[in-house]
Amino acid sequence: MNSSQVHRVIFDTDPGVDDAMALYFALAHPAIEVLGITTSFGNVTVAQAAQNALYLCALAGRRIPVTQGVDRPWLKPAEAPPAYIHGADGLGNLPDRMAVSEQLDLRPSAQFIVDMARANPGEITLVAVGPLGNLSLALLLEPALPSLLKQVILMGGTVLEPGNVSPVAEANIWNDPHAADRVFTAGWPLTMVGLDVTHRLVLPVTLFQKIADHHRHRATDALHHAVSFYADFYGARFAHVAAVRGCFGHDVLAFIYLVAPYLFETQSGQVRVVSDGLAQGQTILKRQPGIDYPHPGWDASRPASSVCMALDAPACSALFETTLMRSWLPA
Ligand code: RIB
Ligand code: CA
Repeated sequence: MNSSQVHRVIFDTDPGVDDAMALYFALAHPAIEVLGITTSFGNVTVAQAAQNALYLCALAGRRIPVTQGVDRPWLKPAEAPPAYIHGADGLGNLPDRMAVSEQLDLRPSAQFIVDMARANPGEITLVAVGPLGNLSLALLLEPALPSLLKQVILMGGTVLEPGNVSPVAEANIWNDPHAADRVFTAGWPLTMVGLDVTHRLVLPVTLFQKIADHHRHRATDALHHAVSFYADFYGARFAHVAAVRGCFGHDVLAFIYLVAPYLFETQSGQVRVVSDGLAQGQTILKRQPGIDYPHPGWDASRPASSVCMALDAPACSALFETTLMRSWLPA
């Protein structure tokens, strides 16, 4: 694969079990190069997120710069992490952890994003799968960032599918709605991979067992353990997910979109985020083109995003499996 076909990525994440799935997909896929990992509060505290990112890379035998980012929402009060979904440690309460010698890159995550974008203008895709405070802060540090990044792909939001934190709000957007609205109105090429598609892909725990049996490696063993914990939460909420003892892969679909956008149907339109009140965290897509709404929040000058509204779930599942079954781990 020549270098022009490789996606150079900064991964902004709050690992998090589905974040771990996404990271390992990215490390396993030949067309993705992870240049760095930036971390946020969300599924866990940002300190735990940063340690989890270091740990997941060490398990996989990769040395990738990891930075620690924002520790709370921009304006709204912070909330306790959902230990009941991802475990207190964010990885399904791993029974033990090997010693990790790697240290964090001491720059704040937002500064790392700006430094890398300035050094590689127009080349880097930012894949964001947690609350969006790092990206929002990076915009403040470098207002030209939309012209310095190649594109932003984010897992978050929902248009027609019910929310997972409120009837209208998805967790990543809910966690920092003010930051999210700044990201959706920044003007960079942006693709939203929301619950409209991530709730259509159920990954069974048996698939992660198969991957672990194939590799017999500490990284895939840890992933299998984490997913087993995570699946219990989804099985208790969704009967069709329980029927296959599965879970939603959420974050991994951001990387699957990156390498296989043809597996998705998208709609283009302005997206705004409700920052306060009963609908806090709602992502509103202007779905009716050609109407110039008079409200200033929808003036035509505001940029449009591409929103994933459907996907080929069996093909996405097959791509995930074939990618994770590749030879991508060191002995
Ligand atoms: O709503 C799902 C999103 O929230 C995923 O990114 C998951 O990791 C959590 O952060
Ligand atoms: Ca996440």
